[in-house]
Amino acid sequence: MPRILYADNDYPDIALERAIFDPAGVEIVTAQCKTEDEVIAHGRDCCAILLQYAPITAKVIAALPAVGIVSRIGAGFDTVDTEACATAGVWVANSPDYGVGEVATHALALALASIRNVVAYDRDVRAGTWHFESSGAIPRASSLTLGIVGLGRIGKRMAHIARNAFARVVAYDPYLIDGDFPAYVERVPSLADLARTADVVSVHTPLTRETRGMLDAAFFGAMKPGTYFVNTARGAIVNIPDLVAALHAGSVRAAGLDVLPEEPVPPGSPLLAHPRVILTPHAAFYSVEAEKELRRKAARNIVTWLATGRPDYVVTAGTRRYAG
Ligand code: NAI
Repeated sequence: MPRILYADNDYPDIALERAIFDPAGVEIVTAQCKTEDEVIAHGRDCCAILLQYAPITAKVIAALPAVGIVSRIGAGFDTVDTEACATAGVWVANSPDYGVGEVATHALALALASIRNVVAYDRDVRAGTWHFESSGAIPRASSLTLGIVGLGRIGKRMAHIARNAFARVVAYDPYLIDGDFPAYVERVPSLADLARTADVVSVHTPLTRETRGMLDAAFFGAMKPGTYFVNTARGAIVNIPDLVAALHAGSVRAAGLDVLPEEPVPPGSPLLAHPRVILTPHAAFYSVEAEKELRRKAARNIVTWLATGRPDYVVTAGTRRYAG
């Protein structure tokens, strides 16, 4: 009987996964692995790993030669060493398209809440101040330009739902051909051009070697004064000290952040003290429906791989099959 390691999860129960694995005759080993050694200890005799945040490193892959597939419950896969998996022939799968609308609407919500001072007004009203200018001047949203960094699934959806709120939508994505840009999105040739053009920046790239720390002092320094900044992609794409400096300098007027390099936000972080920073707890993906779809797709990758030798959603192609 195939046995899989459910390496970690923060769900109240795993009835949803059991309903997929039980009929397929798959046994589930559950754990809450935080370290490589815990994954290795629990993953012995398993042919697959289903994970939320557990580290799947070269050391883990080397120590578990029976594992043929790693399936991430989520779109991002930065806790998985995809190169080590590819070298070893281990498939890497994910659940990429369950929450495109959720993340895009969350990004738009953070952008509009920042522009319209929603959180600051609420704070002021509760403190006894009732005045439309209590939190400073507000520009007209329909005169602003939205700049999207990374025009993939979520970036495109963001452009689509946001375009009626703003004057223009521009985007920077060096990996797309012109034909991949919707007619209502103008292409800008560089990150610096995006910084110079946009009044509202929304980040939608994956975290890669190239994008880690990509939004730094040079990027924020190129912005117009008073730009709004939203990140629902991955925290480590942004250099947080540089963002904090930009908030103080005024090139960034307000920031809406769903993701941080260190999650949860560390106590004492300057972001917590800043009045124009809105934080949400890596929740952009979430709706009741999206969570179910996310978990179902990640689990089904493994069942499909067992049946056919290939998962539904491939991040990195492998060669390993279930050996029985
Ligand atoms: P996608 O792969 O469809 O799109 C990413 C786009 O970024 C691609 O078009 C790619 O060409 C572009 N890109 C890559 N490197 C770039 C660079 N250096 N500069 C500019 N563009 C670049 O991915 P999708 O589905 O749109 O997701 C984007 C990211 O959103 C995910 O990688 C994930 O980290 C994050 N995410 C966050 C969630 C949350 O709850 N906050 C939930 C789901 C995804």
